[in-house]
Amino acid sequence: MRIVLVGPPGAGKGTQAAFLAKNLSIPHISTGDLFRANISKQTELGKLAKSYMDAGNLVPDEVTIAMAKDRMEQSDAVNGFLLDGFPRNVSQAEALDEMLKAESMKLDAVLDLEVPEDEVVKRIAGRRICRNDSAHVFHVTYQAPKAEGVCDTCGGELYQRDDDSEETVRKRLEVYHTQTEPIIDYYKAQGLVVTISALGKVEDVTGKAMAALKGDGEGE
Ligand code: AP5
Repeated sequence: MRIVLVGPPGAGKGTQAAFLAKNLSIPHISTGDLFRANISKQTELGKLAKSYMDAGNLVPDEVTIAMAKDRMEQSDAVNGFLLDGFPRNVSQAEALDEMLKAESMKLDAVLDLEVPEDEVVKRIAGRRICRNDSAHVFHVTYQAPKAEGVCDTCGGELYQRDDDSEETVRKRLEVYHTQTEPIIDYYKAQGLVVTISALGKVEDVTGKAMAALKGDGEGE
């Protein structure tokens, strides 16, 4: 399956993507994680991306699309992928359509995670991620690690993302409403959108998402 995951910052895209990708045996491709890996390796791409991310803005399309294309062309993504955080505006969605069309492929679904803004703010405020792998995500109360500040998965140090400050989160939400939400209508026009509420326990949300992707859930 080729799936796009969409939802506001802190909706639980990364959390759900880890389970969904495992259940569906497809790679989880997160442009945010790819940028953060570049930042920790201090690459030129990482240095460029950090300045945009810390301000809550989108990294320019040119570099983002090239990075996403490169990752999607790797051998593990031949039979499908779960995109998390890409596309993030209509030009990126158009570029993805072009990429897939060139390979005679198409998307199977766009999973839209709905979460009220006050819950998103609580989720982001308590989020802690692992220095070794930003796909290892915890929450100080909702998904607390067994030992404070230590990743359950690999023992790495947990920290708060630089772009999770209150001011940057406000900007990221604004960018989501103005630039990313329009892709939901773009994909609705293609009949691809399934919307679920991402409130509730992580495992219950995964169950709803799997049911919606199979076409027997509460999606549209
Ligand atoms: P990115 O890393 O994609 O961030 P985001 O979209 O803002 O999403 P988040 O990672 O903040 O949240 P999430 O939905 O994954 O939630 P999570 O699972 O962690 O992008 C960061 C930046 O990179 C962007 O601002 C931009 O600058 C740049 N960028 C990335 N892609 C780009 C693109 N395509 N174009 C241009 N720029 C791009 O969950 C949040 C918290 O809630 C966690 O603590 C978790 O434990 C907890 N939680 C999850 N589910 C539940 C639940 N059901 N109940 C209770 N708590 C829960």
